[in-house]
Amino acid sequence: MATALSVNLNKIALIRNSREGNYPDVVEHAKVCIASGAEGITVHPRPDQRHIRPDDVRQLAKLLAPMKALEFNIEGNPFAPRRGNYPGLLVLAEETRPDQCTLVPDSDNQLTSDHGFDLTRSAEQLAPMITRLQAQGIRVSLFMDPIPEQIRLAKEVGADRIELYTGPYAAAWGTQELETIYRQHFLAAELATELGLGVNAGHDLNLINLPKYASVPGLLEVSIGHALTVDAIALGLANAVQAYKNILTEAVS
Ligand code: PXP
Repeated sequence: MATALSVNLNKIALIRNSREGNYPDVVEHAKVCIASGAEGITVHPRPDQRHIRPDDVRQLAKLLAPMKALEFNIEGNPFAPRRGNYPGLLVLAEETRPDQCTLVPDSDNQLTSDHGFDLTRSAEQLAPMITRLQAQGIRVSLFMDPIPEQIRLAKEVGADRIELYTGPYAAAWGTQELETIYRQHFLAAELATELGLGVNAGHDLNLINLPKYASVPGLLEVSIGHALTVDAIALGLANAVQAYKNILTEAVS
């Protein structure tokens, strides 16, 4: 089966948050992604609410709940405490019941997530959280680097899937490091599959580096936000310009 595409809508929310109001509308963009063939929608709410807000998660959950074939994936740091009206990742997930919750060891002062879990340190704290989410019927994925010992620990701690952090793969594009890093991902995915873990991947994937990465064995889902949003500006721009032109032409005549 082909690898599923889950579109990360954080950047749409980031643009929305730069002004008052609800423009662009995150839910409307989710609908366009779905109509265009995306199999899933991903959001990464953070305590600082710099992009996706708790209400976005609730509204997307409402949109996606009746769409049984669609995957709703909420990712975030399960250790980040509630702040203001951000209730914390687990509470938000329990309320909105996504298909998948991807646990990520990021923090507020990071621009974006930039490493996987070190399960030699955090497995004990994660285990009850994983059980709690699974008890609500939510599949749990852990954001991981392609390190064999860590992948084994992901299985031991009870995860259903791992999401391989592809930032270093993307950064190595066009360098001699690429084959080494690709091989690490290939072997990590093979190991995960052998252990019975599903394999997702994400971060900095784009139209150039995705074709090679898509050959990683057993890859179930990629979540892509940043590059896809930038591509949308370029590839969708002609149509947008035409729409503005049409309005202005009609107004003159
Ligand atoms: N996976 C995780 C855990 C992330 O934090 C992000 C960024 O929010 C992505 C995937 C998607 O990365 P990008 O926006 O670079 O496609």
